[in-house]
Amino acid sequence: MANTFLNLTLLIIIFHFFLTTLSKNLTTILTDQFALLALKDHVIQDPGNVLATNWSSSTPVCNWFGVSCGSNHRKVTALNLTGLGFVGTLPPHLGNLSFLSLLSIKDNSFHGRLPVQLSNLHHMKHIDLGNNSFSGEIPSWLGSLTQLQVLRLYYNNFNGVIPFSLGYLQKLEELSLYGNKLSGSIPSFVFNISSQFYT
Ligand SMILES: *[C@@H]1O[C@H](CO)[C@@H](O)[C@H](O)[C@H]1NC(C)=O
Ligand SMILES: *[C@@H]1O[C@H](CO)[C@@H](O)[C@H](O)[C@H]1NC(C)=O
Ligand SMILES: *[C@@H]1O[C@H](CO)[C@@H](O)[C@H](O)[C@H]1NC(C)=O
Ligand SMILES: *[C@@H]1O[C@H](CO)[C@@H](O)[C@H](O)[C@H]1NC(C)=O
Ligand SMILES: *[C@@H]1O[C@H](CO)[C@@H](O)[C@H](O)[C@H]1NC(C)=O
Ligand SMILES: *[C@@H]1O[C@H](CO)[C@@H](O)[C@H](O)[C@H]1NC(C)=O
Repeated sequence: MANTFLNLTLLIIIFHFFLTTLSKNLTTILTDQFALLALKDHVIQDPGNVLATNWSSSTPVCNWFGVSCGSNHRKVTALNLTGLGFVGTLPPHLGNLSFLSLLSIKDNSFHGRLPVQLSNLHHMKHIDLGNNSFSGEIPSWLGSLTQLQVLRLYYNNFNGVIPFSLGYLQKLEELSLYGNKLSGSIPSFVFNISSQFYT
C-alpha cells in the first residue's frame, strides 16, 4: 500500500515535471513565432511576397525563409533577410528572440530607430544593418552585447557621435560605420579592434 502510494507520488512528480517542460518549450517556441510575426507586421512593403507566402503560422518558424534555428533547442539563432526590397521598421518584439546570434537585414529599406529591446540579445555575434535608412544616434546599449564580433551600420542615416560604450566590446573584429552623418572624433578604442574598422 505504502509502495503504491509512493509510486503514484513519483508518477505525479514526473508527470508534473514533464508538463512544466512541455509548456515551457511551447512558450519559447511561441515567443519566437510571435516575435517574427511582429516583424512581418512591421514590413509594409514585401515586393517578392516572401513573408506573405512563406512566413505562415501553419509551418514551424525554423522552416521559414531566412530563419535558422539551433540544432537541438529549436530556438531561432539567425535571421538573414538580405536584399529583399523590404520597407518597414523593426518591432521591439525582436528583443524576445533570446538565442539570436546573427541578424542580417542589409540592402533593404528599414527605417526608424533601433528598438532598445535588442539590447537583451546577449548571444548576438553578427549584426549587419548596412544599406538601409535607420536614423537616430548609434545606441550606446550596443556596448552591452558582449559577444559582438561584427557590427555593420554603414549607409544609413545615423547621426551624432560614435558611442564610447562600443569600446567595451572586447570581441569586436569589424565595425563599419561609413555613409552616415556621424560627427565628433573617432574614439581611441577603435584602434584596438583586432582587424577592421571602416568609417
Ligand atoms: C523540451 O525541449 C527539449 C530540447 O529541445 C527536449 O529535449 C525535451 O524533450 C522537450 N520536453 C518536452 C516535454 O517536450
Ligand atoms: C519557405 O522557404 C523555405 C526556404 O526557402 C522553403 O524551404 C520552404 O519550403 C518554404 N515554405 C513555404 C510554405 O513556402
Ligand atoms: C544571407 O543570405 C544570402 C542569400 O540570401 C547569402 O548570400 C549570405 O551569405 C547570407 N549571409 C549570412 C551572414 O549568412
Ligand atoms: C515580447 O516583446 C514584446 C515587446 O517588447 C512584449 O510586448 C511581449 O509581451 C513580449 N513577450 C512575449 C512572450 O512575446
Ligand atoms: C543598397 O541596396 C539596394 C537594394 O535595396 C541595392 O540596389 C544597392 O545596390 C545597394 N547599395 C550598395 C552600395 O550596396
Ligand atoms: C586597448 O587595449 C589595451 C590592451 O588590451 C588596453 O589596456 C587599453 O585600455 C585599450 N585602450 C582603449 C582605448 O580601449
